Amino acid sequence: MKSDSRSIGLFDSGLGGLTVLKSLAQAFPEESFLYVGDVARLPYGNKSPETIRKYGEQILHFLKQRDVKMLIIACNTASTVFLKETAFAGLPLFNVIGPGASAALNATKSNKVGVIGTSTTVQGHAYEKTLKALRSDVNVYEQACPLFVPLAEEGMVNDEVTQLMAKRYLAPLMSAGIDTLVLGCTHYPMLKADIAQVTGAGVTLIESGDVLAKIMQAHFATHGGAAPVGNKSTLQICTTDVTSHFARLAQTLMQPRTFGELERIVL
Ligand code: DGL
Repeated sequence: MKSDSRSIGLFDSGLGGLTVLKSLAQAFPEESFLYVGDVARLPYGNKSPETIRKYGEQILHFLKQRDVKMLIIACNTASTVFLKETAFAGLPLFNVIGPGASAALNATKSNKVGVIGTSTTVQGHAYEKTLKALRSDVNVYEQACPLFVPLAEEGMVNDEVTQLMAKRYLAPLMSAGIDTLVLGCTHYPMLKADIAQVTGAGVTLIESGDVLAKIMQAHFATHGGAAPVGNKSTLQICTTDVTSHFARLAQTLMQPRTFGELERIVL
């Protein structure tokens, strides 16, 4: 099958998509990646679908101009407005909602699935619709957690304030008896330990990055286009605003993988 050494392009509003990038970089050490964090316009999670669509299209065009071979929306909120699309400007397009929903259905035994996400993701019910389209009798309990993104962006991990918020947000889902919880925002895996403290070991936490890696594996096996064996991979991170705070947290998050200077871009 034909190989392709070009980069995989992906984006999020900020640091969150790096949780997806990390999983993919681990799963595909020979692939190169070009990541965009739209930090100047973060958060996406309280904006209208129209605005998010406009931002998303700008970034996808930018990635296309940089000659990536495929596009990944490493943001659940942006995924909700591109839910049905599998291509953009002639390139394969992947989102994180479908993979998360399938993984949740594989994991649940009680048929009670919780979904946490940004306000826009939860209000659009993208997960509920996708889960029910795959299994009509599944019980879905959605909860918006608007303070989780700022807590993650501030690096408040293993923190009592984060745990207090997690307890409050997750109380209705825990009372409903969920056994599976979709972390329906790519920032949330950064708070996984705090969330797990509240849910306990009886609830399986679903992360987009790990599931997406399996989908990409299947895509390469069917369509080809993986990096050639022995490819010298690169990792480039671009942001719409550069702050030392972002650079520091991104380095910590991506360890042990390193990357060069952040590139500031104008969309
Ligand atoms: N990380 C994004 C997501 O997966 C959104 C964060 C934001 O509100 O900007 O939904």
